[in-house]
Formats: sequence, C-alpha cells, structure tokens
Amino acid sequence: IKIFVPIDAAALSVGAEGVAQAILREAQARGVAIELVRNGSRGMLWLEPLVEVETAEGRIAYGPVAARDVAALFEAGFQSGGAHALRLGVTEELDWTKRQQRLTFARIGVTDPLSLADYRAHGGLAGLETALTLASSEIVETVKASGLRGRGGAGFPTGIKWKTVHDAQAEQKYIVCNADEGDSGTFADRMLMEGDPFLLIEGMAIAAVAVGATKGFIYLRSEYPHAHRTLQRAILKAENGGILGDSVLGSGHAFHLEVRLGAGAYICGEETSLLESLEGKRALVRAKPPLPALQGLFGKPTVVNNVLSFAAVPWILQHGAKAYADYGMGRSRGTLPVQLGGNVRRGGLIELAFGISLREIIEDMGGGTLSGRPIRAVQVGGPLGAYLTAGQLDVAMDYEALASMKAMLGHGGIVVFDDTVDMARQARFAFAFCAKESCGKCTPCRIGAVRGVEVMDRIIAGTERPKNMAVLRDLNRLMTDASLCAMGGLTPMPVMSALNHFSEDFDRPLPALA
Ligand code: NAI
Ligand code: SF4
Repeated sequence: IKIFVPIDAAALSVGAEGVAQAILREAQARGVAIELVRNGSRGMLWLEPLVEVETAEGRIAYGPVAARDVAALFEAGFQSGGAHALRLGVTEELDWTKRQQRLTFARIGVTDPLSLADYRAHGGLAGLETALTLASSEIVETVKASGLRGRGGAGFPTGIKWKTVHDAQAEQKYIVCNADEGDSGTFADRMLMEGDPFLLIEGMAIAAVAVGATKGFIYLRSEYPHAHRTLQRAILKAENGGILGDSVLGSGHAFHLEVRLGAGAYICGEETSLLESLEGKRALVRAKPPLPALQGLFGKPTVVNNVLSFAAVPWILQHGAKAYADYGMGRSRGTLPVQLGGNVRRGGLIELAFGISLREIIEDMGGGTLSGRPIRAVQVGGPLGAYLTAGQLDVAMDYEALASMKAMLGHGGIVVFDDTVDMARQARFAFAFCAKESCGKCTPCRIGAVRGVEVMDRIIAGTERPKNMAVLRDLNRLMTDASLCAMGGLTPMPVMSALNHFSEDFDRPLPALA
C-alpha cells in the first residue's frame, strides 16, 4: 500500500512530519505493509497535511490530518480508501485539482521529488532529450516561439534573453537561477524546488545547451532550508545519473551546477545585486547597461532567469512551442502558477492559463475571505504591486491588462484583505519595507523611503494633511522616475494605488481629544 505524506515546508509547518511518523508506527503495530512516499504539496494549503492513499480507484485524499487522527483513520480502513470524516475523495477529481491546467506543476504532489525513476516515469527528461537532438539556435527559437516570458515579474521574453547570450562571443558563459523568492505572499519557487527539483535542473541544463554555458548557479534564499537540502540531494543524484557533469546525457555538453545561499536581503532578488552577491561582494545594484546577458556573472554573458521560467522550458521542448502558446491570452502565453494567500478561505498554488480573472481565482478557487467579511483590497505582484479594489476584480491575469490599470502581475502572488484593512498604514508599510530593504546605492530610494515613512506618519497623525499629501505625491513621482532599480522605482505603486483607490483612509477623522 502506497501512502503519500508531503515533505513540503508548508505541510511540515502544520505537522506533516508527526503525521508521517504516526502512520509508520500505526501501520507497524497493525502489521499493515505500507510504502510511505514523501511527496511535494498538491498546493491545497488549507488541507495540509494532506495524506493520500493509492487505491484501484485512484489516489484518495484525506485532510487536514493530525497525528492524533491516524489511529482512527486506520480503524476506518483508510489504507484501502475507507470512509472517514477527513476523506475528501479522489485527488484528481477534486474541484481545486480539476480546474487547473498544470504544465509546470504537473508532477508536484504526485511524485517522489528525489526519485529519478519516478521523474522519468512521469515524463521527466523528455524535454532535455529533445533539446539534445536540436541545434542550439533551434532550442532558442523554440523557447522564443512558445511566447514564454520571465516569470520573476518583469515578463521579458525568455527566448530573446537566451538569444542575446547565445549570440555573445565568450569562452565562458553562465546560467544563473534566481531562487531568491522574496516577495511577500509568494511561494511557487519554493514549492517547485521542494516538490520537483529535477525539473529546475532539467530546465537549466536545456538553457546551458542552448546558449553554450558550462556552469550554473542556483542563488537560493537562506530562508528556504528544506529547498536547499532537496536541491543538494537532487544535484548529487543528477550528477550520478549523468544529467549533470562533463557530458549531459552523453551528449558531450558539459554542465556543472551549484547552489549558493543568500543571507536574507530582499534586494538580492534584483538580478544585478544577485550577481554581485554571487561574486562574493556586497549586494549593491549595478547600473544597466551592460545587461547581464552580455556582461553578467564575473563579467561573462549570463542567463539569469527565475525558477519558474527555467521550469517551464522542459514542457515546451517536450510538447512543442505551439502547444504551450495555445494556452493564454494576448502577449501572455502559457500558464501562470498563481499563489493565493492573505485573508482567504482556500489559499495555495493554482496553475492556470493566463486570462482567468482575479475574481474567479479569489472567489471560485479561494472561496472569498476567511473572516467572512467583504473583500476590500487585493495586492497583486508582491509588496511592490498595486492594491486593487473589490470593484476591479474582473481584471484578467495578464501582464498588459494589469499594467493598463497601473498594477502588475509580478511573480503571481495575490494577497487578499477584508474591510478591516487600513490602507494608509499599508502605504506606510510600503515605504518602511523599502527603507529596510534598499541597497542604498541611489538617493531617491535610500532617502526617499525614509522620508516616505515620515510623511505617512504625519498624514496618519493628521498633521498638516494637505501639505503632506502634496509632498507624498511629489515624493512618489521622484522615486518612480529617478530610482536606479525596481525596488525604489516600484515602491510608489502600492502607495499611489492606496491613495487613488482608498483616499478616505488618508483623510480619517482624528479621535477626539479626551
Ligand atoms: P527589467 O525590465 O529591467 O529586465 C527584465 C529582464 O530582461 C532582465 O533579466 C534583463 O536583464 C533582461 N533584458 C532586458 N532587455 C534585454 C535584452 N535586450 N536582451 C536580453 N535581456 C534583456 O526588469 P528587472 O529590473 O530585472 O525586474 C523588475 C521586475 O521584477 C518588476 O517588474 C517586478 O515585477 C519584479 N520583481 C520580482 C520580485 C520577486 O520576488 N520575484 C521582487 C521584486 C520585483
Ligand atoms: Fe538600491 Fe533602491 Fe537604488 Fe535599487 S532603487 S539601486 S535598491 S537604492
């Protein structure tokens, strides 16, 4: 009997390890022979720890399971899919699972993340094998034709970036994975690295073959110790399995891969400061140009892509550019792994083709607010993303549609707030976040963020509001126009959206003096 208990950090945080141990103990005590598989998470985070049992009917899900439920589950015959209050049904038939279009996340929650045999059995390495039959320029053309855009947030066409590196002349090129997933409310990179690490390795190997790089680095945030451990083990297995090393799958292409840990700075998610950090220096943002594609790591041509961008590539090579481009809308092709969180009943990872509305995601998939109170604001795209109102939820998940509303899709994080949120305090938070995380290289961001906190404090306290509101608008304009990178340049986005859509919070009557 195969039983699955996730080893994903989100599941572990709510007791999955205790559940796994209890299942092993209970099975032994009852003399039931089981094979316990530690899979990734299916992404239904409100149901974690989600335990699954393989039956003739398919995999049956139970959740959320606590260690104290395990004896009763065995008593009810869950090892053969028996009825119990926690039984949810066949996992693949659950509404949450059925509604998704999982291309990148197809294996996550299904397979054993560290089993290469399982990876292969579920289509793994087919993309790399196809890539190895093509000329490097054909790989680049395939990625270009798929319409894949950088999933880190900026949405730059991945194929064009690869072409720049491919065409550059240099004796050394690098592949760098940006796994410094720092946006609040995002966790897709982490889930992928913990749940299907070979997919990232395969995507990076394809990039290496495509552009002629022999060395790669995964720059991982230190806050992800589980992903770190999983990646280390997966890299070792990939080396032993001939996927990494001096001859990728016997092709003669060399590709060596290492993980490097960050040290907790949000700005290291900005690609040039990431490269500085990777070189062992203080993570100060570099001016662009030169682009990293031409002068990146140690001054050499470098592909820097987010985890999800690399992870989308094996599917594209396996199934063809057109099959990928058939998903999506407008210039946003393929699928987007959305991360739904905040004040929402059902939060988690949802992979869907671009074009679905924010309302469908929050109301249909998410079930509205957890508090049961009305939605007031939704922040899309991380701490530098805009706040949208309840009236704007029909916007499609699409780079251009959001940009036309002065918002951004970013890395696909969605954070829901109910009507108790104070948007003036959220605006203050944006400045406070920037003041803490600024690299300090340019004045508009280094000084502007601190002034922003002060001006928000005066507005909240009701001190000379008209004058301070004018200063606030002026400061936002300056930071947007004159900051060197997106940190300072985008901080005004949440501030201005709060101000424009929720102006009443900036003009609250002050409490009467006692
Ligand atoms: P960008 O627009 O300057 O560049 C996007 C990417 O395209 C970069 O990798 C750049 O090097 C590359 N590029 C641009 N022109 C190119 C060319 N001609 N050839 C080859 N490559 C080229 O944006 P940036 O500053 O890298 O990222 C800003 C975005 O990051 C924001 O829009 C935001 O959505 C996102 N972001 C993501 C965070 C996260 O945690 N994932 C956190 C903060 C911001
Ligand atoms: Fe550094 Fe902020 Fe300037 Fe970016 S905008 S370079 S984080 S000081």
